[in-house]
Amino acid sequence: MTTRVFTGLKPTGQLQIGNYLGAIRPLLDLAADPDNDLLVSVADLHALTVQHDPARLRALTLEMVATLLACGLNARAKLFVQSSIPAHTELSYLLESTATYGEMARMIQFKEKSRGQESVRLSLLTYPALMAADILAYQSEVVPVGDDQRQHLELATTLARRFNGTYGDVFTVPRGATPAETARVKDLRDPTTKMGKSGAAGAGVIFLRDEPDAIVAKVRRAVTDNNPTLTYDPRNRSGVANLAVLLGALTGSSPGAALDEIQGAAALKAAVAEALVETLAPIQKRYRELTADPAELLSVLRSGAEVVAGDAVKTVANAREAMGLLSLH
Ligand code: TRP
Repeated sequence: MTTRVFTGLKPTGQLQIGNYLGAIRPLLDLAADPDNDLLVSVADLHALTVQHDPARLRALTLEMVATLLACGLNARAKLFVQSSIPAHTELSYLLESTATYGEMARMIQFKEKSRGQESVRLSLLTYPALMAADILAYQSEVVPVGDDQRQHLELATTLARRFNGTYGDVFTVPRGATPAETARVKDLRDPTTKMGKSGAAGAGVIFLRDEPDAIVAKVRRAVTDNNPTLTYDPRNRSGVANLAVLLGALTGSSPGAALDEIQGAAALKAAVAEALVETLAPIQKRYRELTADPAELLSVLRSGAEVVAGDAVKTVANAREAMGLLSLH
């Protein structure tokens, strides 16, 4: 028996190496385990919960899909776009009718994102119901979640239990899984800040689509220090440590071991740049191929949707029936 594992990713643009090492590569590892039946959904509906630009959302959704495909995710996982399965929104409403206003309103993410806003979309409040629907529609058993989504997952398990207790056993109650420890990559120019979170406009960020020249230039300008002897000392030598973390993660060794046999910051930077280009070049090549033919990309997504739709439709039919909605079939 395989374990059904579900995860959703919001279509954020400008993916960078920190996202690759921290989010995409762990998914590839999950997908590579034959005991897992992994579903990955690009959560475009969740992107509607805050102000958005329609053309940009469409572009970002395709970019996210193409990136995941270029990284090789589809070989083992079922990849689809959330909005292509209408059962998610239908189930979300049924779950809203199982949840209370108070439960939604006390979610930390809701409080943080609504604080001080003049206008708050209602979907921001009901966000966790949709996320629960994503998970429960597929009878998912395991959901790998980071800290920021743990509370939402807990609410999903609460709703599943409550629904089952009230209307009969319809949903598998999911459990969270702590994602494997991953490399935490920092900004190259500001190595005490997480990559992508620094105010500086991208000078210290390696984007997945950066050309080799840009990668070499950015790594060359990474912050290091005056000590010519390389040591892994994150507290006192954050710049060198960050490069060691990157090199280790890219070459499959520990940060400390990655520094062995390298002399001096210049050589370290050269090794990091080389490892980055080696990792990213094949991904970029596939990305270019995939995006060169949008029709092909859509057809991959259509197949993805076809593969998963049946399960979701079945679960929703069971939930509808259990709640007392009329079935005409
Ligand atoms: N809300 C998640 C996030 O912001 C994305 C997501 C949507 C998700 N549906 C999901 C995660 C279902 C896990 C399971 O990261």
